[in-house]
Amino acid sequence: MDAISIIRTKRDGGALTPAQIDWVVDAYTRGTVADEQMSALAMAILLNGMDRAEIARWTAAMIASGDRMDFSSLDRPTTDKHSTGGVGDKITLPLAPLVAACGAAVPQLSGRGLGHTGGTLDKLESVPGWRARLSTEEMLDVLREAGAVICAAGDGLAPADRKLYALRDVTGTVESIPLIASSIMSKKIAEGTGALVLDVKVGSGAFMKNLDDARELARTMVGLGKDHGVRTVALLTDMSVPLGLAAGNALEVRESVEVLAGGGPADVVELTLALAREMLDAAGLPDADPARALADGSAMDHWRRMITAQGGDPDAPLPVAREQHTLTAPASGVLTALDAYAVGVAAWRLGAGRARKEDPVQAGAGIELHARPGDTVTAGAPLLTLHTDTPERFEDALAALADDAVAVTPAEGPRSVSPARP
Ligand code: URA
Repeated sequence: MDAISIIRTKRDGGALTPAQIDWVVDAYTRGTVADEQMSALAMAILLNGMDRAEIARWTAAMIASGDRMDFSSLDRPTTDKHSTGGVGDKITLPLAPLVAACGAAVPQLSGRGLGHTGGTLDKLESVPGWRARLSTEEMLDVLREAGAVICAAGDGLAPADRKLYALRDVTGTVESIPLIASSIMSKKIAEGTGALVLDVKVGSGAFMKNLDDARELARTMVGLGKDHGVRTVALLTDMSVPLGLAAGNALEVRESVEVLAGGGPADVVELTLALAREMLDAAGLPDADPARALADGSAMDHWRRMITAQGGDPDAPLPVAREQHTLTAPASGVLTALDAYAVGVAAWRLGAGRARKEDPVQAGAGIELHARPGDTVTAGAPLLTLHTDTPERFEDALAALADDAVAVTPAEGPRSVSPARP
């Protein structure tokens, strides 16, 4: 078996055999197949696709590249959620403790920010003392103590994906449905959850920009989950405007705590409850009432226990960025545009995300929204506040918000207008 003939097969539109897939994934993980060969293969897969049998085998080979976790010692059913990534998508933070408060165990392996999309681990690291890296034993201890754990995947879990994902990120090969589906599902299946709810984002701020692609990704992932005995369902949810009123690490933790305290923006509460119901249903707990667990404080109690068990202080003040800059409504009217991708890029440029893999993120950086599309605004009222520790970043962030990404349509006028630059 050799890498060049495998690359040629896919380059010429052929289907890879199970033996070819097993060999190339294993050889790449061990370092026998070089990065440049795997990037050529990833590009051929992006351009020519894979059929169902190839995707299933590729996923199985990625799972087999590492360890599988086992939660069978827990006395509750396990259930998990995965979002394909968006702007202001902090749902995991209130959702995991909420579902735990309803009687399930939530072993949530999460990731860091990717491009313009935020990462759950980066957000939680703004809580003083909180640790993302746990051993398997520590993970089980937190699950027993709090019913939910949110942490980084250990090095032994789907190592083929870790290597391939980093390569795809720098070779323009992220946006391939077979590669995204196998990447996400290999980690979730290896994690050992009994049930899985996929939140497949669609819109400008998501990796899938249109409904057809999002549907195909959802169907592919649900099929893979079922093949491996994981009860899997998918929701397609809108990512054309940011979720809630905050995008950025500590800003999103603050909003999540508001939701756990019974408040928070309506769209965040609605999606949290919808996903909680699906997770509980898939875990065999259809009668649990997540709305009650939010209202009676039990979800907040599980959040506090989870944060404390991972070394964090749930009462510590969250970091605040050193500098703020507010954009105001240029006219009275209705906010008609607030583009998720533009807000995500602006938050990223303010320091909420990374330019390179090894960069640190700023805990306080990001964007606070004061209005949502459809809201009536008056001239001079705040629309967005930009937060950063490094004010030289404002210019770049404002450039991302230009070109009608944010627009107010005046009540009396025919044309929408964007907030003025400073
Ligand atoms: N998230 C993943 O884990 N993998 C992808 O390929 C895309 C998003």
